[in-house]
Amino acid sequence: MPAIDPALVPEDLFPVIDALCATGAQLSGVIARGPLGQSLGAGVGENSDGDQQKALDVMADELFEAALKPAGVRHYASEEQEVVLTLDPEGAYALAIDPLDGSSNIDVNVTIGTIFSIFQAAEDATASFLRPASEQIAAGYIAYGPQTLLAVTFGAGTLLYVLDPETGRFSLASEAMSLPEAAREYSINASNRRHWTAPVLAYVEECEGGTQGSKGKDMNFRWVGSLVAETHRILTRGGTFLYPSDARKGYEKGRLRMVYEVAPMAFLVEQAGGQATDGKTPILSLQAGALHERCPLVFGSSEEVARIAALHD
Ligand code: AHG
Ligand code: MN
Ligand code: MN
Repeated sequence: MPAIDPALVPEDLFPVIDALCATGAQLSGVIARGPLGQSLGAGVGENSDGDQQKALDVMADELFEAALKPAGVRHYASEEQEVVLTLDPEGAYALAIDPLDGSSNIDVNVTIGTIFSIFQAAEDATASFLRPASEQIAAGYIAYGPQTLLAVTFGAGTLLYVLDPETGRFSLASEAMSLPEAAREYSINASNRRHWTAPVLAYVEECEGGTQGSKGKDMNFRWVGSLVAETHRILTRGGTFLYPSDARKGYEKGRLRMVYEVAPMAFLVEQAGGQATDGKTPILSLQAGALHERCPLVFGSSEEVARIAALHD
């Protein structure tokens, strides 16, 4: 029995998406048991980038790697691994994954997720991922929240599936997610305000100005700390998200990874009618220069993303 309703999934990609969903359903069960099961949020080490790894980061990476091996994935690039792994030398696809996004939220029962991006495999493992984000053939996220759900694009709109806990299967909930053009909410880690660039500060001050300011409307503020949760909220009811570059050491290109986080979210957002840039330039026209490279990310309702680009000019 497949883990996802096969109707709208391209046939050749079906084994990959099915493996992602089967593992997502399994992780959803582990996460739901929280402290009744094994330890999930305990620190277990550091990845090659110096990020602290939690037990669930490592478990998720191992489960996805094992499930994707027989599913036609040749090159597997994970945020938790230093180099690209070869899973099936005959496989047709290169898959990049953030196995567990939002790991600071594991122990506090707040939505966390998995993000993935798929390219056709090239001969060279690393080069398969260092290409324009517009060459992705699929991208998506699984959100582990009050519902476990999958948002996915194959380049023809953004589809939404929800895991039915009674059947263990992801069923279609929307054939075309549509990101509202106007926004009433914005998201940025405001504790970094003193490090922001002038255009970012100017945008946030416009949002804070409310009905008295140049926007002429009140804007609400939200920050979850899980990119997956933030993206899902914005795809559902509009808004803007910014993780810009700032003046802190190591944040010259923001915090998020191009290959594992920025490119897939940009593909999903654009396919739902929104926009995604690095502040100015569309993400889909950019490519990573190194596997774990970071990239500033601004996305959401097109009016707002255009306004932020104008402030950068
Ligand atoms: P990860 O858990 O995969 O390292 O990603 C966390 C990311 C993202 O989900 C979130 O938007 C951002 O880091 C939060 O960063 P700050 O702690 O700097 O706000
Ligand atoms: Mn992440
Ligand atoms: Mn992660």
